[in-house]
Amino acid sequence: MRTVDLIQKKRDGLELSTEEIQWLIDGYVDGSVPDYQMSALAMAIYFRGMSTREISDLTMAMVHSGDEIDLSAIPGIKVDKHSTGGVGDKVTLILAPLVASFGVPVAKMSGRGLGHTGGTLDKLESIKGYKIEVNQEDFIKQVQETGIAVIGQSDNLVKADKLLYALRDVTATVDIIPLIASSVMSKKIAAGADAILLDVTVGEGAFMKNIEDARILAQTMVDLGKAVGRKTVAVLTDMSQPVGRAIGNRLEILEALEILQGKGREDVSEFICELAQIMLSLANVEKSLEEVHQHLVNGAALKKFEEMVVAQGGDLDDLYRSVQVSHQVDVLAEEEGYISALPALEFGLFAMKLGAGRAVKTDELDYETGIVFHKKVGEAVSPGQAIATIYANENISENMLTNFRKNVKIEAERVNTKEILEIIS
Ligand code: URA
Repeated sequence: MRTVDLIQKKRDGLELSTEEIQWLIDGYVDGSVPDYQMSALAMAIYFRGMSTREISDLTMAMVHSGDEIDLSAIPGIKVDKHSTGGVGDKVTLILAPLVASFGVPVAKMSGRGLGHTGGTLDKLESIKGYKIEVNQEDFIKQVQETGIAVIGQSDNLVKADKLLYALRDVTATVDIIPLIASSVMSKKIAAGADAILLDVTVGEGAFMKNIEDARILAQTMVDLGKAVGRKTVAVLTDMSQPVGRAIGNRLEILEALEILQGKGREDVSEFICELAQIMLSLANVEKSLEEVHQHLVNGAALKKFEEMVVAQGGDLDDLYRSVQVSHQVDVLAEEEGYISALPALEFGLFAMKLGAGRAVKTDELDYETGIVFHKKVGEAVSPGQAIATIYANENISENMLTNFRKNVKIEAERVNTKEILEIIS
């Protein structure tokens, strides 16, 4: 086989066989297929797409490109969750302990953030001492003992995705349904959980800009999961504005703690309780929304979170301290009305420039910086009221403030928002 022939085949709109896909992935991992050919192939896939059979073959070739985790030593149905990325997305920080507080084991491997999107690992690493690198044996032991672990993906898990994702990131080939579906599902399948909840984000701050594409991506991933015997459900969730009120690593930990104490914004708490209800149901534990919410109010979920932090070396005293920044600036409303848009992408990029995110993989993060919104879409504001507070370790110029304000849209009419747009199972 020659890589160039396979690129040409895809370029001309033909299907690659199972053997050809396996050969390409094996070659990419062992270095015999170079980056420049793989990027040409990714671009050909961008324009020509892949059949269901090709996506399934690609996913399984990627699964087998590295270690596959065996969670069978942990009793019960293990549920996992994955988000396709967003801004201010602290859902895992709350959802994982909430589900674990019902005795359903959560053994989760998370990722880092890049560009305008944040990553759960970075948020957890903003807790002093929290270790995200845990070997497989200790990972399983921790879940057996505490019922929960959220760690970094091992270097050997889905090696092909590590290489391919980095390549896609710099060749404008990230936002392609077959490649996103195979990337996400190969990691979920290799990570070994019995059931998977997929949070497919939709909107300007997400890879899927419209609901039609999000629906196709969600259905593709659900089908991939089911084909290998994993119960899989996808929820399409709104990412037109940031999730909750904080963007920034430590700020999001603090917001997560508030929600875990039953004191968070009602919309986020409700949305997370709905996701928890679905995850519990995937593990055959049927609970009402009130019963789920009770675990936020009575401290059961918070206790699980603290147990996880301690088990992974985190400092509980440091956990609750507020952020330490040199500049804290309120952004005040200049007119009367209702917030009609807070574009997630723009504010994600704004927070990234403050140091809360990475423009390139090697960027160092400033865990303390970010934004806290006091008003979200649909809420009333009047002149002089604080819409948001910016936490920075640099001077916030007038220019930056003007830019920030320009992105906050205010209108006379109130618009409605909805977190969960659709459920695909
Ligand atoms: N998240 C992933 O893990 N992979 C993608 O390709 C996109 C989002």
